[in-house]
Amino acid sequence: MAGIHEYMSRHHELCDGIFGRAKKAATGNDWAGTERDCKAFLQQINQHIDAEENLLFPAFEDKTGMTGGPTQVMRMEHAQLRELFEEMLAAIGGKEADRYLRNADLVAALLHEHNMKEENILYPMLDNLLGAEAAGLLAQVEDMLA
Ligand SMILES: [Fe+2]
Ligand SMILES: [Fe+2]
Repeated sequence: MAGIHEYMSRHHELCDGIFGRAKKAATGNDWAGTERDCKAFLQQINQHIDAEENLLFPAFEDKTGMTGGPTQVMRMEHAQLRELFEEMLAAIGGKEADRYLRNADLVAALLHEHNMKEENILYPMLDNLLGAEAAGLLAQVEDMLA
């Protein structure tokens, strides 16, 4: 069975794919496509962030006793991402291609760094810390991302 690391890394890829299609649409001035794909991306990434903040990070904090460590940094980056998501939606509302692409590029860069830290450090640590408990937590995450 796939662990937290594998499952969440695959979901990062899924989100990247949808977000990439939104960028392509915006570059071609296809606003219907941009709105459809950007909103599909935001739905997935917001569920992903919620699953991390409500299930995975608390489990990490519980096992390590660290609340001011990596999870705090990840939560701060999620907050930055959410602000940029609002900017992208506003740009779509106003059909402002430059504004959309500028903010989408910031999201892509921040998300790449963020995801690398989760995939290289946080998720593997979680699988190790949780051991046999990982499967139960992952089942809850899968419910949230369904
Ligand atoms: Fe995250
Ligand atoms: Fe993540």
